[in-house]
Amino acid sequence: MCGIIGFTGKSEAQNILLNGLASLEYRGYDSAGISYFKDTGKISIRKTVGKVKDLRAICDDENNSTCGIGHTRWATHGGVTNSNAHPHKVGNVSLIHNGIIENYHELAENYDLKETLISETDTEVAAALFNKLYDGNPEETIQNVVKLFNGSFAFCIMFKDHPGIIYAIRNVSPMVAAYCEEGSFIASDLTAFINYSKRYFIVPEYHIITMTTEGIILKDLEGNTVEPEYLEVNWDVAAAQKDGYPHFMIKEIHEQPEAITRTLSPRIKDSLPDFTEDSIPDEFFKNCSDITIVACGTAMYAGMVGKTLIQSMLQIPVTVSIASEFRYEEPVIHENSMVIVVSQSGETIDTLEALRLANQYTKKTLAIVNVKGSSIARESNYVLYTHAGPEIAVASTKAYTVQVASFYLLACKLGLVLNKIEEAYAKDFIQTLQKTPKNIAAVIEQADTVERLTKRMINAQNAFFIGRGLDYTLSMEGALKLKEISYIHAEAYAAGELKHGTIALISEGIPVIAVATQKHVYSKVISNIREVKARGAYVILLSKDKELTDSSICDVHITLPDTPDAFTVFNSVVIFQLIAYYASIGKGLNPDQPRNLAKSVTVE
Ligand code: F6R
Repeated sequence: MCGIIGFTGKSEAQNILLNGLASLEYRGYDSAGISYFKDTGKISIRKTVGKVKDLRAICDDENNSTCGIGHTRWATHGGVTNSNAHPHKVGNVSLIHNGIIENYHELAENYDLKETLISETDTEVAAALFNKLYDGNPEETIQNVVKLFNGSFAFCIMFKDHPGIIYAIRNVSPMVAAYCEEGSFIASDLTAFINYSKRYFIVPEYHIITMTTEGIILKDLEGNTVEPEYLEVNWDVAAAQKDGYPHFMIKEIHEQPEAITRTLSPRIKDSLPDFTEDSIPDEFFKNCSDITIVACGTAMYAGMVGKTLIQSMLQIPVTVSIASEFRYEEPVIHENSMVIVVSQSGETIDTLEALRLANQYTKKTLAIVNVKGSSIARESNYVLYTHAGPEIAVASTKAYTVQVASFYLLACKLGLVLNKIEEAYAKDFIQTLQKTPKNIAAVIEQADTVERLTKRMINAQNAFFIGRGLDYTLSMEGALKLKEISYIHAEAYAAGELKHGTIALISEGIPVIAVATQKHVYSKVISNIREVKARGAYVILLSKDKELTDSSICDVHITLPDTPDAFTVFNSVVIFQLIAYYASIGKGLNPDQPRNLAKSVTVE
């Protein structure tokens, strides 16, 4: 949700800001802007509706300012217009913001700010308030003003009479910073300045950052100086670039074998799961009576697969909750319940709040998170980091498969600790899991076939994904992927449920993507597929059957690698990802930046 960047240093700021914004564009891309100090000490702004390339086109080639801030927007308050775009400037103050100031109406009213406002945004109210209460001391003003805000925020602020300095503060909304040879950087995430520094620190909430050419000072709201805790990432610039691929999404689909290997390898010793490096003791798994998995979107669908696997393998009750619902419910959780929160970004506000709630009920909270040091990782009692590397495309792909792989490791460990499975079974299970990267690589080789068959789908208004058991839970992710990047309305159904209503929607030519990989329900699914085929559906069938020739079942058959039933999910989902990707580009869309969406949802 909105990307922000600030830089002050020795080099010219404009390109650093624009390049940083291009890297952050996946967080929001309906408008963009920068503001910077001019030689005269004045602050200038360039902003426009559209993408970073549109902003670049209106930027001044002669701009030699070495201090500025930049923003790429995902609209929350107010439509997509130039005046609603950030930065905002009121009097002495220019600022950018990620988050929502919930009480902005009251603030505008109580502090008599309405007269000065030209946009419809909560952010401009914040700028007007900073300006109104500015007493010549930026730090004191920030201390006083942030206490008045309800909501989430990450602000970068420049005061006209303090040229060359950027101030910043955050609550909930993410922000990382670094000081390096080039100067001082701050941004929503590291991809914005990974070109300059792999070392960074997470800006603690309610701490004031003062950035100058000489360094960064961090102070708490009482004015005490705090030492930043620097972290270092093990990926580099190339990981956050397209690397010759036309889109991040297809690059990230191809990265899955490696991402899974990176996630599994440090956690497997002698073919058994081992979480020593994650400092998760066996004690954590003991006495686990039930599990609640909480997440949003794709991460939640990874949880669905986790649930189906754990329940069938270990007979432990598992519930999957949508984080935005869970946080407002009375959760049925007690001290022996394990709560697993799943998040790529580690910043999704609903998931974070759900975790905070769960922490009140049980000590057994575990986060499966991709982004190191993120809020969810920090607030959970234990963390299992997935090692997908940066995921830039809005539609999650590699983050999903590594989350699912993590559930497989966890299921195995839990089974061993609770004596629900034998060691020999566990070893066999883990060895099969280790073959996943190779199988996925083989599935990706079928990309051309998928591209061809997807051509039949691009004019469809609706599509269905059907399956039973693991294939059904997996289908939910297939439907989401197709919806979000191709705008084809898609739903997933348990194949046996169709005739209780949904089959009424099946008409001539409607695409049905059917998955039949689970032996114990295979013949049942095939019967369900015949039912939709008989009603004119265009059926794409995914199965492991090499000999399938019966054209009364399907129009297209995709043969998946011959893996045990519990592991076919990894292969099927890659086909789903490719279908969504090719449907999107077949329709002339940009799969990396679907309309209305943004990565990392830090607003409720
Ligand atoms: C869909 C997608 C989203 C995210 C969801 C949670 O492709 O990416 O549904 O899965 O917004 O995000 P994280 O995992 O960052 O908590």
